[in-house]
Amino acid sequence: MNFSLTTSALFSDTREFQSWKEKKLNEYSFETANFTVNIANPFSIREDEYIELIKQVRRRNFVLYRLDPEYSESPQAILSLCRQLGLITTIGNPESRRDHISFITDRTQDPDNSSRYIPYTSQPLNWHTDGYYYPENRKVGSFVMHCVNQAESGGENSLIDHEMLYIQMQEEAPDLIQSLSLRDTLTIPANIEQGQTLRYTFQGPVYSMDEKGYLYMRFTQRKRHIIWKQNAKVSQAISTLNSLLSNPLTEKVKVRLAKGEGILCNNIVHCRHAYTDSDSKSKKRLLYRIRFLERIGML
Ligand SMILES: [Fe+2]
Repeated sequence: MNFSLTTSALFSDTREFQSWKEKKLNEYSFETANFTVNIANPFSIREDEYIELIKQVRRRNFVLYRLDPEYSESPQAILSLCRQLGLITTIGNPESRRDHISFITDRTQDPDNSSRYIPYTSQPLNWHTDGYYYPENRKVGSFVMHCVNQAESGGENSLIDHEMLYIQMQEEAPDLIQSLSLRDTLTIPANIEQGQTLRYTFQGPVYSMDEKGYLYMRFTQRKRHIIWKQNAKVSQAISTLNSLLSNPLTEKVKVRLAKGEGILCNNIVHCRHAYTDSDSKSKKRLLYRIRFLERIGML
């Protein structure tokens, strides 16, 4: 068997992994207090705001921000903020607007605009990275989630830096982690509706290195429309990953975004908790989400 055809080794040897890990742990910040960056004008961010946003993303692949209330409902303000961080190429989907902004809200009571996808309900969303089913040339490098309206209760997001999760996995199951880099670790069957192919079959690894040498992760806890490689090591690795995600890891951050606040991240692993909306239609939970090809801060 030609090993190189079936695997994509992430690190050439243990020493390379150890130095990557050391660098990551040295830079990583476990602090959770006061880490939201206030942005006065998202159309023209100040140098100190830019430096703080980028510093936090380099440390843990995400940053939380808060806009001046004047801009809290403006999709254009979010797009502009992202552009200044190097996020140019938006990735749309059938549910997003023409400008590729998705309005994430519970549409189950809206017969004219219903959706069969869980993000558009008030149900919990299990741990995943965005666009895990997208081909290499459209893979989601980063995304922003911006809160326009908070739910009446619930709707928190939990986040974990995928690089820190990789380090945990390596420590927990060093003999299993390689199986998550197999090029056929996960298969997403084609999405065909009324004879029209909305998405072709995708096959890929959970962990890979992107062309710039950054760790990339494709993952979902969903059970339907995903086929894991039938291999004992892959099954064990996935169950180890799932048990890590259900443990109270110190790297996990739980946030409940308020109006005007958002998460910018390099497509880290995240989930959403269930929520209850207010009876008032104008106060329903609403997030704007925009996905990008680029990673944050790679100008
Ligand atoms: Fe997501």
